[in-house]
Amino acid sequence: FNDSTAASVLVAHEIAALIREKEKQNKPCVLGLATGSSPIKVYEELVRMHKEEGLSFANVVTFNLDEYFPMDKGNIQSYFYFMHEHLFNHIDILDENINIPNGLVSSEDLYQYCIDYEMKIKSYGGLDFQLLGIGRTGHIGFNEPGSHYNSGTRSITLDHITRVDAAPAFLGIENVPRKAITMGIGTVLGAKRIVLLGWGANKAAILKETIEGEITAEVPATYLQNHENTTFIIDEAAASELT
Ligand code: F6R
Repeated sequence: FNDSTAASVLVAHEIAALIREKEKQNKPCVLGLATGSSPIKVYEELVRMHKEEGLSFANVVTFNLDEYFPMDKGNIQSYFYFMHEHLFNHIDILDENINIPNGLVSSEDLYQYCIDYEMKIKSYGGLDFQLLGIGRTGHIGFNEPGSHYNSGTRSITLDHITRVDAAPAFLGIENVPRKAITMGIGTVLGAKRIVLLGWGANKAAILKETIEGEITAEVPATYLQNHENTTFIIDEAAASELT
């Protein structure tokens, strides 16, 4: 795409079509959602469609990919805050249908909490649609280099590059949490449909490795090469290093 705006509108329309299709079938529409700068315009268009076109999210169940750990959901840097600010506060989704990893779960409960998150996704028959961004380390969700293709929801130590990229939002790298809770690669690959968004020149190098490189744990996004229904939606700057 020439730019991220038209591309984001297209993605939002695909999600809206899926929501309406599931509504007709009287089934929940199970969406895996991302935070960060990449999906913001997709959420903007979904909010617009809710307000102006009556798109209802009453049958939608969401699972967010990740949350910093530890992180209070009232903190403006939390992904809980981000999702409410950009999407949930503006649509008619039911509160009980929103799932975001709890950044304040106790260390003793963390292991079981992650298993329960995974099982809850499975209880809906898996994710119908997963929206992704990509980090400069090749992470999807917070699955940093070294992540296993079969990994499930778990706690993870953030890569230094990821913390550098997050530093401005936290007013300094020393304030960026060292850990996060993330859905696994296996969780993401279980989605029936995956769309990865990539905008801007600073994603060009990692997108080249992800799309044209060998599948490797060192670039976890390369695992997407094995998924049968994945589309990368990227702008010209992000595509500039592709051969
Ligand atoms: C966030 C997430 C991350 C981001 C990635 C890109 O929920 O899962 O993988 O998608 O770090 O972030 P942005 O979009 O800010 O460049």
